[in-house]
Amino acid sequence: MIQAPRGTFDILPEDAVRRDYLEAQVREILGAAGYRRIETPTFEATELFARGVGEATDIVQKEMYTFDDGGGRSLTLRPEGTAPVCRAYIEHGMHKLPQPVKLWYVSSFFRAEAPQRGRYRQFWQVGAEAMGSAAAETDAELIVLLADLLAALSVRDVRLRLSSLGNPETRSAYREELTSYLRAHEDRLSDEAQARIDLNPMRAFDATDPRTRETMRGAPKLLDRLDDDDAEHFAHVQALLDDAGISYELDPTLVRGLDYYTRTLFEFTSDALGAQSGVGGGGRYDRLMEQLDGPPTPACGWAAGVERMLLAASELPVRPELVDLFVARANGDRAGARTAFELAQDARRAGLAAQLELAGRSLKGQLKHADRIGARYVAIVEDAEHASLKDMESGDQRELEPTDVIPVILRGSRLS
Ligand code: HAM
Repeated sequence: MIQAPRGTFDILPEDAVRRDYLEAQVREILGAAGYRRIETPTFEATELFARGVGEATDIVQKEMYTFDDGGGRSLTLRPEGTAPVCRAYIEHGMHKLPQPVKLWYVSSFFRAEAPQRGRYRQFWQVGAEAMGSAAAETDAELIVLLADLLAALSVRDVRLRLSSLGNPETRSAYREELTSYLRAHEDRLSDEAQARIDLNPMRAFDATDPRTRETMRGAPKLLDRLDDDDAEHFAHVQALLDDAGISYELDPTLVRGLDYYTRTLFEFTSDALGAQSGVGGGGRYDRLMEQLDGPPTPACGWAAGVERMLLAASELPVRPELVDLFVARANGDRAGARTAFELAQDARRAGLAAQLELAGRSLKGQLKHADRIGARYVAIVEDAEHASLKDMESGDQRELEPTDVIPVILRGSRLS
């Protein structure tokens, strides 16, 4: 039997209803703040992610689905959405539009990770990106918008961690300082942390090994090495969040798996999730546009995992699917079949949710089915001139002409 590939899943109608609700909340919350929808292709030139996300990241090193398009070009299923949105910004000259350009997306992404609860190989993200603004208000507003979305979805036990990465220059000076510290304490680090000293020393803060963690407590922190402008920007972001009543923990060791971040960095976690507790996160990426050969453009954004938000969400108030009319057949009459078919079409055009019997059930079976799907009325069509209409709530039934079915329903006339 052929099954869905490992790490992927089907979105069945019951799941789709919850996703529709989530998307409606995204549309409302981000739409009200002036964000507009964008969708980019499912695959892109591999180079976009190699340059955008960063050669040294786990994503680029081991998690990308990369293939040759048959013409010698290397393509990759998108592992994330920020680099593609920047590519689109540059390609369409969006720097000529009023700034910032504020965009959102709900798309699926691909990472060849070991699947577990909350971690898949194809997953969905809601993302928001604001490009062309260096203002601290942009960072704070984006964080508030994600907090609002998580609240609207009643995602449980949410915590926000916040940090700043400063700029690439202070960061590389800090990186040298940290590298020296790690070298000096190499014998007290896990093999994994040792192996990463040169490639990605910051990852040592992520270690689960107790001795490494202990050693990292004494390590220099990037937050203490920010230059004046970056420190000022970060203080402003914090003040705005304080005013907005958003609580957060400053976490100077916060690291994220993408290389493009500068200044503000944040992550929302939910204790309702297991090991994969990251619900959504993002930050500023002021240099990414230039790295992709675009005009220098400060930008900020976030993405949140749809599956993780839904896993951590309480019961969502999803609307029941209403059926106003079920069109049943009293017999096998050919003309009656055409009348029934037409009646269902006309009912929909009149604004009713109408379903037609399609399975050849007996009349009794049809009424049972109509009851199961929660139909308000059942029209039982005999032939072109004769039908009866049954109110499933009261049980009242009346004979009428097929053409009278819709007006009677719309007027809500009594059937007894
Ligand atoms: P990210 O932290 O890699 O950031 O992913 C964002 C969110 O996507 C995570 O917090 C998580 O909820 C979800 N996610 C990531 N990987 C998986 C997976 N394998 N299975 C299920 N869910 C997953 C980014 O992708 C950045 N582009 C965010 C950003 C936007 N930064 C600036 N703008």
